[in-house]
Amino acid sequence: MITHLDPAPNATDPEPFAGEDHPIRVITRKAAAGEWSGEDAAKIGALFDEMAPEWTAGHKGDRYLPLADAFERGQVAGARVLELGSGTGLGTEIVRRHFDEVIAMDLSMGMLQNAPDDLAPKANADASRLPLADNAVDVVVMVNMILFPAEIDRVLAPQGTVVWMNTSGEQTPIHLTAEQVDEALPGDWTGVASRYGTGTWAVLRRATS
Ligand SMILES: C[S@@+](CC[C@H](N)C(=O)[O-])C[C@H]1O[C@@H](n2cnc3c(N)ncnc32)[C@H](O)[C@@H]1O
Repeated sequence: MITHLDPAPNATDPEPFAGEDHPIRVITRKAAAGEWSGEDAAKIGALFDEMAPEWTAGHKGDRYLPLADAFERGQVAGARVLELGSGTGLGTEIVRRHFDEVIAMDLSMGMLQNAPDDLAPKANADASRLPLADNAVDVVVMVNMILFPAEIDRVLAPQGTVVWMNTSGEQTPIHLTAEQVDEALPGDWTGVASRYGTGTWAVLRRATS
């Protein structure tokens, strides 16, 4: 179950951009439901490889600050942090302000190559098949990333935390609501969600009986 906290005082509606039928939105919904093929991985990897050189210049600014709000108001703690779909490191920069041990992982080698080398160790992998042991991490962070519920559930420690953030809220092409994330994750979860700037975030933990 998700509890919606009050929006931060600076919360604003994002500019209209991506509707429900946006092609990336369709892939996002399918992946969250467990449908993801080698063909999808190749297509998405190539798409982001192509956008990689311009990504940082086009996405800079305060748009990643909702992540700091999520960590603070969502009371996120833990030693081992995995950022999935870390891209060119714009979110990683915020993650590193809060956590020391971070792995930045992405499917697109081009995005990783355009990320700073000194932020966090970088790993090239498909999040649908994570090269990590069961219970290997305490926090999984995703910013504008496709959700792979089964793998997140497998690698996240029992008391672990999932942080989901969309920089342009419901207008972000890769977007799921907090409730959709909750529903997609295996088992029962409890969480808080809110808005900050143009972004939306959700912090989820496994429900304890
Ligand atoms: C919209 S970009 C967001 C990048 C960064 N988080 C940001 O907000 O600036 C989505 C990122 O997720 C990565 N990605 C998509 N599918 C992935 C997968 N199956 N495994 C790992 N990374 C993936 C893409 O390569 C891309 O870098």
